[in-house]
Amino acid sequence: MKYGFFDDERKEYVITNPQTPFPWINYLGNEDFFSLISNTAGGYSFYKDAKFRRLNRYRYNNVPIDNGGRYFYINDGGTIWSPGWKPVKTELDKYECRHGLSYTSVKGEKNGIEAEVVFFVPLNSWCEIQKMKLTNKGNKTKKVKLFSLIEWCLWNAEDDQNNLQRNLSTGEVEIHGSTLYHKTEYKERRNHYAFYYVNAPVQGYDTDRESFIGLYNEFSHPDVVVTGKSKNSEAHGWSPIASHCIEVELQAGESKEYVFLLGYVENEEDQKWESKGVINKTKAKALINKFDTTDKVNQALHELSIYWKNLLSIYSLDSEDKKLDRMVNIWNQYQCMVTFNMSRSASFFEVGIGRGMGFRDSNQDLIGFVHQIPERARERIIDIASTQFEDGGAYHQYQPLTKRGNDAVGGNFNDDPLWLILSTTAYIKETGDFSILEEMVPFDNDESLAKTHFEHLKASFYHVTNNLGPHQLPLIGRADWNDCLNLNCFSKDPNESFQTTENQTGGSAESVMIAGLFVVYGRDYVELCRKTGKKNEADEAQKHVDNMVKAIKKNGWDGEWYLRAYDFFGKKVGSQKNEEGKIFIESQGWCTMAEIGMEDGMCEKALNSVKEHLDCEYGIVLNNPAFTEYVIEYGEISTYPAGYKENAGIFCHNNPWVIIGETLIGRGDQAWEYFRKICPSYLEEISDLHKTEPYVYAQMIAGKDASRPGEAKNSWLSGTAAWNYYTITQYILGIKPSYDGLEISPCIPKSWKSYRVSRKFRGALYEISIDNSAGVNCGIKELKVNGEIIKSHIVPIQKAGTINKIIVVLG
Ligand code: BGC
Repeated sequence: MKYGFFDDERKEYVITNPQTPFPWINYLGNEDFFSLISNTAGGYSFYKDAKFRRLNRYRYNNVPIDNGGRYFYINDGGTIWSPGWKPVKTELDKYECRHGLSYTSVKGEKNGIEAEVVFFVPLNSWCEIQKMKLTNKGNKTKKVKLFSLIEWCLWNAEDDQNNLQRNLSTGEVEIHGSTLYHKTEYKERRNHYAFYYVNAPVQGYDTDRESFIGLYNEFSHPDVVVTGKSKNSEAHGWSPIASHCIEVELQAGESKEYVFLLGYVENEEDQKWESKGVINKTKAKALINKFDTTDKVNQALHELSIYWKNLLSIYSLDSEDKKLDRMVNIWNQYQCMVTFNMSRSASFFEVGIGRGMGFRDSNQDLIGFVHQIPERARERIIDIASTQFEDGGAYHQYQPLTKRGNDAVGGNFNDDPLWLILSTTAYIKETGDFSILEEMVPFDNDESLAKTHFEHLKASFYHVTNNLGPHQLPLIGRADWNDCLNLNCFSKDPNESFQTTENQTGGSAESVMIAGLFVVYGRDYVELCRKTGKKNEADEAQKHVDNMVKAIKKNGWDGEWYLRAYDFFGKKVGSQKNEEGKIFIESQGWCTMAEIGMEDGMCEKALNSVKEHLDCEYGIVLNNPAFTEYVIEYGEISTYPAGYKENAGIFCHNNPWVIIGETLIGRGDQAWEYFRKICPSYLEEISDLHKTEPYVYAQMIAGKDASRPGEAKNSWLSGTAAWNYYTITQYILGIKPSYDGLEISPCIPKSWKSYRVSRKFRGALYEISIDNSAGVNCGIKELKVNGEIIKSHIVPIQKAGTINKIIVVLG
């Protein structure tokens, strides 16, 4: 491969050429402290919240791309280079970056010196470790100078960029040997500081950026590195940095290792100071003490690998296709965990200041990781539900630091409430823990309004039925899942946000997508009520679901496919009658998932229409024909050039909905073809076109109407991760957690002969072999549990601790 390859054994993607078609990145950290790191060591770290607790500065949308990071420089007799190629960009004799599970190693070699840095965030610790190993591969003694560099962000990443009249005068540091402390604003309202440490004596340091780099120089050739001499500068205002200088002598064949540590500390109000103006370093010293030797660091790395081994042992696939195995077993699960941690807040495309945790996003993300960390999934569900309003509506997002909802990116998205039913039922099916329904959960973060979590689900359900339009379909509100279908917005002013503006009221725009969503999760709600003995509520809710099915069949069907919506004026959206945007993917996905009109062939017809109008070489586009003009009554969707984003881009998040629809009508070959088209491991060969990482999904791939169809954008933070994982594992491979056991219902290509899945579920292990010598798409001829044939397709819950052999013969 041109840029790298998968090393499945080590669960790594190995990059062999630093000039990837876009920075290919990784995430470090699993709980509170996180870092983003590119294949050339660009990126930044933050504590919990990428907006409010940013540790180091990063320059988005810069030239050249990917500017700012944790950089190392080596001055070897005047030749200057960086192990990750950037920022110096001296051509390296060898380069290799290995992105692994929560760690990245970057290795460069030049003139016989090899420098390898392993970056990771240890479990349960608020720091990033950079383990540096320098090796002299030549046959003569060498003396080199090693410089480190990070540039501090003044905590609030937004303010850091905007408020320069203040910021240039606030920076403060403290210097103590090999530890450089950043304490801007600590003396007033902050109780936190950061530090950068190395476990060796230093020959010099710098903490002032301009002294280190030189006002008219660049990151690539800082003054100090070029001259080989630190200036021991102390920052007062301007831009504080932290840089160490270590002079290293290496005999032929010798290696030396150093531990650099970027740490974050919070102190109690009465514990802030050691003496007047001198910060209390007790916690910093304790953190340093945890990781100040290579042995301690290696142990922490080992613990991290055990952590991941356990997480990935819950679902693993052994099929005839390596590309599929590596997605299911490693990368797709890994991406799901990252989306759990970040929602849509911080990637190389999300600047970490715009969006916190999305209500709908976080609920959906949960279906991708609930099997791995059910306790944290439970906590997340409760956090999300706590921001819900009493009428079932929701803030569209909350900040992770405060866990309080805010309407910075709008509210009144009428699909939001329903996703809470998805996440909660997924959690209970996985764990059997019905007690979550009894937990008291506030509304709008107000404890005095707390009710049981079940009441939150009820509020979600009735939020839809209390907000129906003239066709008995759900009112769309600000928008549904498609943030850009803004049917109540009518914006003429480029300074208005499509998501927060409502310029006209009194209309009754309705969403057929929410209608389908309601039928799917409304049925789940009914089932949950029955399971918990709420018969009357179940009967009552079922009537609403039945009514919705009727309303869709009557008012949501266009003849060959499901309509998308009714606009403000009651006109059809997504109909043969429209000039552009005749058909949309979302309602085809949700109404087939809800099996609306299955008995009358509606599902099959709709899916055939998807194939005919929306499918293309690189995936299924969102709508067709693409909008070529701004349609004021539709909003943002028609602002994008044809083929991008919500205007006929391949918005990967929604492709799985159609794939699930295909499995429900038994078309395993078609389902698989769609799955493969957007699955990153199959796109590695076309990296020059695809651009983003071949190990994670991107939010969008340019559609057939774009100028470069197949070009992807916005990788990593997308609901695509969870939905594809859910679809491949539960609907194609067909191993589904349910209240009463593991349901087995594969829907695969006819050509697959067999595969095996090992699944841990409710404390027992299920080793499942699927035999498809009959060459069918679906249908179970025989299912044996530990040698005994059972009639049902649900393998009953086995005793915790047992290992169970499940043999499934398709036919
Ligand atoms: C948002 C999702 C939304 C999708 C489609 C994403 O950027 O995070 O909430 O459903 O776009 O508009």
